[in-house]
Amino acid sequence: MTNPLSQAETPLLTMLCKCARENHAPFYTPGHKRGVGISEKLVDVLGKAVFTADLAELTELDNLFAPSGVIAQAQQLASEAFGAARTWFLVNGSTCGVEAAILATCSTGDKIILPRNVHSSVIAGLVLSGAMPIFINPEYDAVLDIAHSITPESVAAALQQHPDAKAVLMVYPTYYGICGDIAAIANITHRYNIPLLVDEAHGAHFAFHRQLPMPALQAGADICVQSIHKTLGAMTQASMLHVQGDRVNYDRVSQALQLLQSTSPSYILMASLDAARSHIAIYGKELLSRTLQLADIARKRIQQIPGLSVLDFSNFSYLSTLNKFNQFNITQDLTRLTVRVWELGLTGFAADEILETEFGVRSELASWQNVTFIISLGNTQEDIEKLVQGLIKLAQRFITSALDINHQKGEIINLFDINHQIAMSPRQAFFAATETVEIDKSCDRICAEIICPYPPGIPILMPGEIITQSSLNYLQKIQVLGGNMTGCQDTSLQTLKVVAVLSSLIGV
Ligand SMILES: Cc1ncc(COP(=O)(O)O)c(C=O)c1O
Repeated sequence: MTNPLSQAETPLLTMLCKCARENHAPFYTPGHKRGVGISEKLVDVLGKAVFTADLAELTELDNLFAPSGVIAQAQQLASEAFGAARTWFLVNGSTCGVEAAILATCSTGDKIILPRNVHSSVIAGLVLSGAMPIFINPEYDAVLDIAHSITPESVAAALQQHPDAKAVLMVYPTYYGICGDIAAIANITHRYNIPLLVDEAHGAHFAFHRQLPMPALQAGADICVQSIHKTLGAMTQASMLHVQGDRVNYDRVSQALQLLQSTSPSYILMASLDAARSHIAIYGKELLSRTLQLADIARKRIQQIPGLSVLDFSNFSYLSTLNKFNQFNITQDLTRLTVRVWELGLTGFAADEILETEFGVRSELASWQNVTFIISLGNTQEDIEKLVQGLIKLAQRFITSALDINHQKGEIINLFDINHQIAMSPRQAFFAATETVEIDKSCDRICAEIICPYPPGIPILMPGEIITQSSLNYLQKIQVLGGNMTGCQDTSLQTLKVVAVLSSLIGV
């Protein structure tokens, strides 16, 4: 079906504005009735307009789960702009998109090949579907302590060992903006006639500028999920799931999304997707050229600051270990700046806190050695100036304490040296009888919860895995360095939830 509408049009946003302006007596949800019943405090902060547009499924506004009007038109325009055969709007973030991608392609007991450095939404997808993970380690840069992508070779080896796998999932780009050889991975995956699912949460902008890495769909992905809110102009939670080809059952994607999303989806979020799509489809080249230029200025200036360096694959002299990755077809999203502060004698966590509290600069992510900043179409030259000045002052203050570094370095544990062993599927462990034990009595037990420290936001233990001393050491180290635990019952990590002994014996 060709769309008679052009990318300049925003059918859903336009209809929402029309309904918001219409004069009528509202006897439907939401209860605030177009802002009349809203607390004055909230109106003072957000203004009235947002509530007038906070409408429910009025006939003209279509239905997200059976779209045939303005939502169908808006999704069709999005599929054309992003290069998909079909696009679904998501109001529960890429989180529900990733879960739906797994539910749509894997049933209970099916194998899925995936990297260890997945987002926790993938683990949730495993619990919901009952799929059995076959983990492969991504390439790991021990000097920078950064995990990159899985390689075509590792995917080929996993598929050779598990030819009955039902899907391959990859993260593209990583949080650091690093993109593996997706075209080769898609090729290998398709030889087994199974789909490649791509968590492209951080790569929604790729399709709109040729200096950015190749978008997942163009490289052959069957499903990709994008957080439009992360790098483009949509509101938080607003995301999209795109599909192409015939390896995926489109109806099952729809059914999975219906299971996972609210039956009262926010039209404000959906209209923001419609507007963000039109904005980037029309002005993308110009907006992203400016964004890339800002990032380039920042990168070059930061690289001049003594004691700091910026993750940069194009700079061969930067760090020797990176050269090895250039042998693979790795690309980098240059709008993402990962600044290494380690040579200042500081961890990324400490630098991040100083930047925030003293210099008014807030990052996206801190890790042991780095702080990562997202530069997007909403950033200004003033933001870049503040970032560079903050980093200059940080470096001036700490350059002399760099001598402590060797001591700290010795304590780093490679995340991928942790020995992971799966005793039961994440779903079996999630539903098994459990008990709570003190952390020092938890070694060798089967974990019954996700334990995902932020940073790095990679689950270290997940339901069904055997708790090892190396995983406990890693978690405790992150905690000492100021990271937070998420996903687990006791975030202070004094206790852990494990599968009860009887359940672990009978495997239920
Ligand atoms: C790699 C990755 N995938 C998926 C998600 C989930 O995205 P959302 O926040 O849109 O639910 C995130 C969120 O940070 C992420 O980093």
